[in-house]
Amino acid sequence: MSIRNEPLLNVYRQKLDNKLVEEIERLQAPDALKEAMKYSIMAGGKRIRPLLLFATIYAYGKDPEDGLSSACALEMIHTYSLIHDDLPSMDDDDLRRGRPTNHKVFGEALAILAGDGLLTYSFELIANDSRLTDNNKIWLIQLLAKNAGPEGMVGGQVADIEAEKKEPNIKDLEYIHQHKTGKLLTFSVLAGAKIAGANAKELTLFEKYSQHLGLAFQISDDILDVIGDENVIGKPVGSDDGKSKSTYPALLTLTGAKEQLVYHIEKAKNALLQTKQNTDLLLELTDLIAVRDS
Ligand code: IPE
Ligand code: IPE
Ligand code: MG
Ligand code: MG
Ligand code: MG
Repeated sequence: MSIRNEPLLNVYRQKLDNKLVEEIERLQAPDALKEAMKYSIMAGGKRIRPLLLFATIYAYGKDPEDGLSSACALEMIHTYSLIHDDLPSMDDDDLRRGRPTNHKVFGEALAILAGDGLLTYSFELIANDSRLTDNNKIWLIQLLAKNAGPEGMVGGQVADIEAEKKEPNIKDLEYIHQHKTGKLLTFSVLAGAKIAGANAKELTLFEKYSQHLGLAFQISDDILDVIGDENVIGKPVGSDDGKSKSTYPALLTLTGAKEQLVYHIEKAKNALLQTKQNTDLLLELTDLIAVRDS
């Protein structure tokens, strides 16, 4: 699906890519570590989280570049989560973003440390951002830590691994998806809203939007693991089934999973429309997630 605002999104994608490379290259750190960090960060991810952050600032008519450092931080944490997710002790996958996984190229020790480097550096980037007020920096760092940490993505990843050994119900599965994937999507949207100056009521609506969007995003990830094309998704198809992962298609069948995807996309859009901001870009990204093939 092509989208009307693709040229605009490409402008911000390019700014993000440039800054990500610059920020890693300027580090005074071992070259091998910088190479391993750059390898995964520049491997061609879709950048959906940074784009959601930019599109939320855009909804308020503010300059999306105000969110550039936060977007880099977010993409670094997301990329670290992928590097660790692919490790032999976790999902044990060999292909990511169309390339051999980080540990396949650099070895496990460097892959773990590249992930650690991306995680910790992300907070430094926000702390050093001269475009943000001190209040906003603290707010963003606190929410990013919470949503990426034990009560967020890391907690979800643990629940995902524990669920390999049992038959979870739909509530357990929602917890896994909302945490391992949803929490970073929530940060994407709320960070943009906060930087743009959203009030408490709007933040609540954007949170609701992002929670449904996060669930929808992981449901479609599960669906693509069954019916996707490896050359398009850039990672192995059938990986979940091989590891007895708890997924929406496994619990509800492919048809049931697709119904849930449509349901959460509709809920997400309803919340978005209630914000009364210019949500055109966000709506396009939401539609894109609904029909994505990668
Ligand atoms: C993959 O995320 C892992 C999930 C949390 C579903 P993406 O589908 O956004 O992966 P990239 O960043 O485009 O590689
Ligand atoms: C991972 O979910 C979510 C993360 C926090 C990385 P998956 O294990 O389904 O992600 P993919 O399919 O490997 O990208
Ligand atoms: Mg996983
Ligand atoms: Mg995985
Ligand atoms: Mg998956």
